Amino acid sequence: MKTVFSGIQPSGTLTLGNYLGAMKHFVDMQEDNECFFCIVDQHAITVPQDKITLRKNIKSLAALYLAVGIDPQKSTLFIQSEVPAHAQLAWIMQCVSYIGELERMTQFKDKSEGKEAVSSALLTYPPLMAADILLYQTDIVPVGEDQKQHLELTRNLAERFNRKYNDIFSIPEVQIPKVGARIMSLQNPVKKMSKSDENQKAFISMLDDEKTIMKKIKSAVTDSENEIRFNREEKPGVSNLMSILSLGTGESLEEIESRYAGKGYGDFKQEVGEVVIEILRPIQERYNELIDSQELDNILDEGAERANRKAFKTLAKAERAMGLGRKRR
Ligand code: TYM
Repeated sequence: MKTVFSGIQPSGTLTLGNYLGAMKHFVDMQEDNECFFCIVDQHAITVPQDKITLRKNIKSLAALYLAVGIDPQKSTLFIQSEVPAHAQLAWIMQCVSYIGELERMTQFKDKSEGKEAVSSALLTYPPLMAADILLYQTDIVPVGEDQKQHLELTRNLAERFNRKYNDIFSIPEVQIPKVGARIMSLQNPVKKMSKSDENQKAFISMLDDEKTIMKKIKSAVTDSENEIRFNREEKPGVSNLMSILSLGTGESLEEIESRYAGKGYGDFKQEVGEVVIEILRPIQERYNELIDSQELDNILDEGAERANRKAFKTLAKAERAMGLGRKRR
């Protein structure tokens, strides 16, 4: 049995990109693997957060994880800040990271560009992410395309630590889906769909109502042709909608192309809108049942306990290998 770990930031409502690029695949992995899914609230505070909103977003993300089908009987769902070993191992991972390699991370460059006051934690975000993954002796990390660089760094840090001290960490493999790894903005389809986009029309929130979803899909930017054909460079808008449709109906991109031969964008967008509504409907229904339930808190308590047990063991091994503390631990 393999160990799977992934995390999501509770920094705003999740998007269709988070679902199709990551969460949907988490659900499939639960059957045959030991899975850990984390709400990474300590990553969220690398940029300023309002306290009430953050607390609400943490709960909301927990409910969404369950609503998409994460089963607490099969997987461990927990909040990062409730497992102190994450911050502790993150410190150790910082000690084996170089400033130069952290400055080269594109997410750091994007988030710090043009800003006057950038927290040092924005730079040391990846060593915390490495700690998340390495604490569970993870084999597979399912993520969207944008996390690939962080995963490469995680592997490098783990290998570096193992070489320098002792073979403590498993080296994780990244798993990126073939379709949906990069769902693009509806308004600027060369940029990824992001929950922090200022333009609300650029993304579909997993909690948008039906009318809003349809309106956003109908106003998605396409091109001046009227041909449904997949080509990310020449037709980024149409290709993005085709990926979404393909994930919703299970058809291949070729099947969609031939079904829409000779047809226009109006019908196509109508179907994409309907399919997205159908994907999100059952998730939203389940979410509404869960969001204020006691069940949610119980699941998170249980998750933190299980995660703490496993994480502490790895942390203790890493500390011992480096000579921290006293020998009798
Ligand atoms: P976050 O919170 O930005 O996104 C969560 C997951 O959703 C994927 N994703 C997308 N996939 C396809 N298309 C999109 N437009 C899109 N937007 C987001 C992301 O790739 C990710 O898989 N640093 C991570 C959180 C993290 C983590 C970890 C992940 C912290 N520790 C350990 C894996 C393992 C992040 O900010 O994801």
